[in-house]
Amino acid sequence: MIGHNIKSIRGREILDSKGYPTIEVELSTEAGVFVASVPSGTSTGKYEAKELRDGGDKYFGRGVQKAVQNIDQIIAPKLVGKNPQEQQEIDNLMIELDGTIDKSQLGANAILGVSVAVLKAGAGAENVPLWQWIAQIAKTKPVLPFPCLLYVEGGMHGRGDVDTQEFMVVIEDGSFKEQLRLGTETYHTLREILNKKFGKASTNVGLEGGFTPPVQETEDVLDLIMEALKKTGQKKAKIIIDAAASTFFRNGRYYFEGEDFNQQGLSDFYTKLCQKYPIIGIEDPFAEDDWVGFRGITQVLGQNINIIGDDVLATNLQRIEEAQKKGVCNALILKPNQAGTVSETIKAAKLALEHNWDVFVKHRSGETCDTFLADLAVGLGTGFLMAGAPNRGERVAKYNRVLRIEQEMQNI
Ligand code: PGA
Repeated sequence: MIGHNIKSIRGREILDSKGYPTIEVELSTEAGVFVASVPSGTSTGKYEAKELRDGGDKYFGRGVQKAVQNIDQIIAPKLVGKNPQEQQEIDNLMIELDGTIDKSQLGANAILGVSVAVLKAGAGAENVPLWQWIAQIAKTKPVLPFPCLLYVEGGMHGRGDVDTQEFMVVIEDGSFKEQLRLGTETYHTLREILNKKFGKASTNVGLEGGFTPPVQETEDVLDLIMEALKKTGQKKAKIIIDAAASTFFRNGRYYFEGEDFNQQGLSDFYTKLCQKYPIIGIEDPFAEDDWVGFRGITQVLGQNINIIGDDVLATNLQRIEEAQKKGVCNALILKPNQAGTVSETIKAAKLALEHNWDVFVKHRSGETCDTFLADLAVGLGTGFLMAGAPNRGERVAKYNRVLRIEQEMQNI
């Protein structure tokens, strides 16, 4: 392995898809140069590992120059000369160097950027595709994921008309390539329907490429999606909604669609939706600290519906373990930047999979064109990839990467 050891690491400030700074890391070994960049959220949960931002005037305080300095001056000197295939050891070293529980000293953005670049260099040293290397170190079975295509965005991601943040469609029919085609055709069909009903401005898209029509009610959006699915003849389509309920929770109440719900009221609302529409998952139906609400809905709907924890679990091992013990949620959103290292992300996924939970590998609203997420979903065999709409380059890049992997798998 000599010759594949890390020769250099440097960070730089680049822009994410929202036009705010994020981290890119360039790592070199004899095998080549490996580049990784990290995403950033908008409806960020409070239990996530913390990004380091500069404050001050530049980029409205959102610069990441300090995180870049931490990469160049603190992390790089410790990692140069190390074997990039020692992912766990390198991640542990960065966790130690940081010394905080939430990675706020060096910045989770700095640490994750390096961690993913190391992972890519590890695959390079082995001369295998990234997804295969991930499966090798995680001891998992690679599987192509179902694409969960985003159709409509509301809440903090859209124009603010509908409170539910995301409406996704999964068409479990045929190969990945076929599912992507059917889902994308239906997305374009929905555009035509919206155009006719509300005019062209209604097909502007939100942060993750979903349409942002002037519709206030969750049910009305679902009706529009059902109309599109009917028009394209999709019989195997299922829907997942992301309520992102922390964003409309204040002082113990849920302010949603002009009403003021308690836990029971909101739970009844979701139950009715699930009876009326082919919903297979609800992400963050309650706020991140409302474990009572989560447990209640998992008891009522959990038999047939994925109650998917995002903000509530924050890709955090302890929180996942506790949620499993208490019957809170039955499925996991896996976001590497919530954890802050590749190793912790892999452990979180495995903990969920061992518990027979479905795992949804998910992007952030502020993305880059890095396609690591696609390899992660395949390599860990999680079964689902949420990378946004079939629209906007940084989203499509991930689905396109899976198309490439689909071919790579056929050739191996
Ligand atoms: P975020 O969005 O990246 O803005 O936090 C949450 C999500 O897409 O699940």
